[in-house]
Amino acid sequence: MIDAAHHPAVEPLAFLLGRWRGEGKGEYPTIEPFVYGEEIEFSHNGRPFLFYVQKTWNPVDGYPMHSETGYLRPVAEGRVELVLAQPSGITEILAGTVSGSRIELTSTLVGVSPTAKQVSAVKRMISVTGTTLSYQLDMAAVGQDLSIHLHADLEKVLGP
Ligand code: HEM
Repeated sequence: MIDAAHHPAVEPLAFLLGRWRGEGKGEYPTIEPFVYGEEIEFSHNGRPFLFYVQKTWNPVDGYPMHSETGYLRPVAEGRVELVLAQPSGITEILAGTVSGSRIELTSTLVGVSPTAKQVSAVKRMISVTGTTLSYQLDMAAVGQDLSIHLHADLEKVLGP
């Protein structure tokens, strides 16, 4: 899928294409800090969006942790949207900007299933420098104001 010709609309997002792998750190005011292994992939099929797939695991025993999947949609010059689903019962719709190789997204809607943890807002920043993809995720959840939950630096392991 990642070898398909670019749709012109996805060219500004081409810096994300490929597979990225590394370790991240997590925290939140209500929980103990933790580390995780992570692999993400951005790919495309010639349509005007990118597929996004992520999986994480416990770096000590390899046991799977959080995962998520969705679509990154370039919508206008410098504007991008992301729709995401998570097995924890949370869905996110975010909108924001792409500038050079940096994306900043803010949730316009967070949906939670009847049994999911309460999350009311999410901010995601993703940037690529050389062969390193870095991101940070902040969230307002379980009664807390917007605070950092995740950050990671991933290295490119497979190109587009
Ligand atoms: C790399 C991806 C992620 C990893 C490895 C991860 C890991 C964790 C861990 C280990 C905890 C503490 C134990 C637990 O409650 O399960 C936690 C809590 C939580 N996470 Fe994440 N998480 C990730 C992404 C997300 C995302 C994308 C959201 C929401 C949009 C989210 C929302 C929450 C919430 C609401 C809690 C509960 C906090 C509390 O109950 O005090 N997480 N996460």
